[in-house]
Amino acid sequence: QNARDSLYIILNYAKNYFQQQLQQHEEGQAIGLSYFKERGFSKNILDKFELGYSLEQWDGFTKSALAKGYSADIIEKAGLLIHKEGSRTAGYDRFRGRVIFPIHSVAGKVIAFGARILKADKSQPKYLNSPETEVYHKGDVLYGVFQAKNTIRQQDACYLVEGYTDVLSLHQAGIENVVASSGTALTVEQIKLIARFTSNITILYDGDIAGVKAALRGLDLVLEEGLNVNVVLFPDGDDPDSYVRKVGAEAFKTYIQNASQDFIAFKTKTLLQEAGTDPFKRAEVISEMVQSIVKIPDAIKRQVFFQRTAEMMQVDEQMLISEGNKVIRKQQ
Ligand code: CTP
Ligand code: MN
Ligand code: MN
Ligand code: MN
Ligand code: MN
Repeated sequence: QNARDSLYIILNYAKNYFQQQLQQHEEGQAIGLSYFKERGFSKNILDKFELGYSLEQWDGFTKSALAKGYSADIIEKAGLLIHKEGSRTAGYDRFRGRVIFPIHSVAGKVIAFGARILKADKSQPKYLNSPETEVYHKGDVLYGVFQAKNTIRQQDACYLVEGYTDVLSLHQAGIENVVASSGTALTVEQIKLIARFTSNITILYDGDIAGVKAALRGLDLVLEEGLNVNVVLFPDGDDPDSYVRKVGAEAFKTYIQNASQDFIAFKTKTLLQEAGTDPFKRAEVISEMVQSIVKIPDAIKRQVFFQRTAEMMQVDEQMLISEGNKVIRKQQ
């Protein structure tokens, strides 16, 4: 048994512990379960994603794990215990008084946790996440991939959302091919993970400035990996979770069908809006579009996108292509 295996074992123990606190402990039921109920999550979803609760205690989990024979060292290495250098005590639990979202590897092992506070509190971050550990590299992981992978393959399509609760709500609405980037900038590793199951991605980021910016940043990376990417924007202030709750599953599905735009439409519209009527800024948009298109490895797709951009920007297609060739030559 190597070091990674012992981390998987303690992480699985912690997952069961948090799950039990949620389902069976008085505090977990009164606070955690009622929180999930208020947000409308079914028992089925709580079980499927193995959601849990951590008690409002300094070291409830650590004490329990020590009593089971796990060493303080391994609890700390798993990211569950915070130990202050030089302190004579074992330390305190990382997750306290929060609802718990276990993060699974593609194979379904628990590798980390996300944990949400229940009430808004400006002195604390809304979500706390496990630190990087030997088995958890944030940039390599997508939340929900284990629960989604079969459906992604079947549908040959994957929805990419920002948050944990977006994944849960879409599953509950019957949309199971969904993963979350968990609020961080998309990485090449994450895109390659999706590419194992499909080459079609639809980005469903939050309907706020941060969401649009994140979608724009993610686009080029996805294109570079040779995947097809579409974008759905939500009404301002909504995310997939709040929107599906507002309009219901059927209207939500209709919305994402109708509001889905290819990356050319999304990017030109977004950039043109920012540019306004300033001709220099509008010229800059054309150049940014060309920069994105040349990242697409497939020459035929590139051709199609030059055509679409020329139409949308009302400029000459040949001009775009020759600008593209200049960019490519500079890169070589
Ligand atoms: N996130 C994080 N740390 C924070 C805030 C956000 O890790 N302090 C990550 C979480 O994975 C979160 C995602 O970024 O799910 C998206 O953030 P946000 O839209 O603010 O949260 P929601 O997922 O919408 O969460 P909720 O609906 O519970 O407010
Ligand atoms: Mn790392
Ligand atoms: Mn947001
Ligand atoms: Mn959100
Ligand atoms: Mn939300």
